Amino acid sequence: MAIILFFVIILTVIFLIHRSTYRRRYKLPPGSLGLPFIGETIQLISAYKTDNPEPFIDKRMNRYGPIFTTHVFGEPTVFSADPETNRFILMNEGKLFECSYPGSISNLLGKHSLLLMKGALHKRMHSLTMSFANSSIIKDHLLLDIDRLIRLNLDSWSDRVLLMEEAKKITFELTVKQLMSFDPGEWSESLRKEYVLVIEGFFTLPLPILSGTYSRAIKARTKVAEALTLIVRQRRKESVMVEKKNDMLGALLASGDHFSDEQIVDFMLALLVAGYETTSTIMTFAVKFLTENPLALAQLKEEHDQIIAKKSCREEPLEWTDYKSMAFTQCVVNETLRMANIIGGIFRRAMTDINIKGYTIPKGWKVFASFRAVHLNPDHFKDARTFNPWRWQRKPEATSPPNVYTPFGGGPRLCPGYELARVVLSVFLHRFVTRYSWFPAEEDKLVFFPTTRTQKRYPIIVKPRVEPKSCN
Ligand code: HEM
Repeated sequence: MAIILFFVIILTVIFLIHRSTYRRRYKLPPGSLGLPFIGETIQLISAYKTDNPEPFIDKRMNRYGPIFTTHVFGEPTVFSADPETNRFILMNEGKLFECSYPGSISNLLGKHSLLLMKGALHKRMHSLTMSFANSSIIKDHLLLDIDRLIRLNLDSWSDRVLLMEEAKKITFELTVKQLMSFDPGEWSESLRKEYVLVIEGFFTLPLPILSGTYSRAIKARTKVAEALTLIVRQRRKESVMVEKKNDMLGALLASGDHFSDEQIVDFMLALLVAGYETTSTIMTFAVKFLTENPLALAQLKEEHDQIIAKKSCREEPLEWTDYKSMAFTQCVVNETLRMANIIGGIFRRAMTDINIKGYTIPKGWKVFASFRAVHLNPDHFKDARTFNPWRWQRKPEATSPPNVYTPFGGGPRLCPGYELARVVLSVFLHRFVTRYSWFPAEEDKLVFFPTTRTQKRYPIIVKPRVEPKSCN
């Protein structure tokens, strides 16, 4: 016991000397590094376990300003709530900063996932992904499937629905369809169940012996990779005989880059993760915010009823021009992304000593560019903590200064699914509000840890609307 105590004291002393050397050598941003080793992790996690995590950042911003130093998840971290600094971090990806995910996430995603790729290969694969999810592809190919699959899902709803669960199902099925042209069925649902286990493993210690969740996640990852490998092999064989399929897998196989099965599987696995929780959370929160704001809901319904009024029947497929006419819907989507984005910011690592705003970020330190802190700052958005979709009508330019409003990040790692996500969200809202009226089945609370969601998956009671123009 005495030996353990001796080592703890020695390690603490070394840690404190090391820390004060840093403070003397560099002009670090102000802030506290908290306790040795654990830093301020406990304060961060405790704040995020309440229904109002904002004070963790608010308190430090008030005391130190928008750039401060903290120590979380085992590492000293420079935290930025400053739009200019966030933009600097995003734009210098690969030059001064590189992406940095916790071990659990990197292991589960696989080294060939776009989120972990670096350098020239990242550039190439990012643009390939962008080219597959851009407006003209969505307009000419994807919109029809998005609309059809959303309608198919909504058809099966009756009475009590766990909205967040249904939203996840919809987004997963859509991504599977876009990646490899599979319609929803038992295969996609059993794959989704494995995915849920993989994602749970993201937020645990990457030590299978200590964490049952992590070892379950590793097993699930193996199953997902096996299932995807079978598909890739099958498609390689087919590509010689059968006509090429117009999907992401087809684009990867035809790209001329000679990707291995493992590369393609890691790549697809990560794409399924990237769009899954993000889009489905925004779908659920948009409905929650609209439920709590009857005026906004009435205006949204009117916009969508007008689209239906031009059709012979409610079930007629949506066209690109319909999507383009959903102006207020875009305001609702923007505002939901501003208030409740599951991606609150991004972690990077400094590749060299970096001077910014009079401070130095030492080489190797973690940096967290907080989008959420900027989005919820009243200096940038009036009454920032109130859901107000009309702000986007009055201030359309709010979307254009990319450093203030960045729900999809920016720079070389700008989300390649940003347009796709907007279309999916808009089509979902269209089909939902024209088809159902609803009310919350019970009280539900926002939860922020380990991810932003609602505690009970937002149960609602849905009632079919007879109008407008229901089909016989
Ligand atoms: C509301 C929905 C979504 C939000 C809020 C969102 C947000 C983001 C953000 C902030 C990033 C930047 C991460 C970083 O800089 O490290 C990102 C990256 C990414 N997103 Fe999305 N995303 C959404 C939907 C989608 C969808 C539908 C897809 C599927 C195509 C997708 C695929 C990706 C990928 C592959 C990356 C990694 C890009 C890279 O590292 O180069 N996202 N997303």
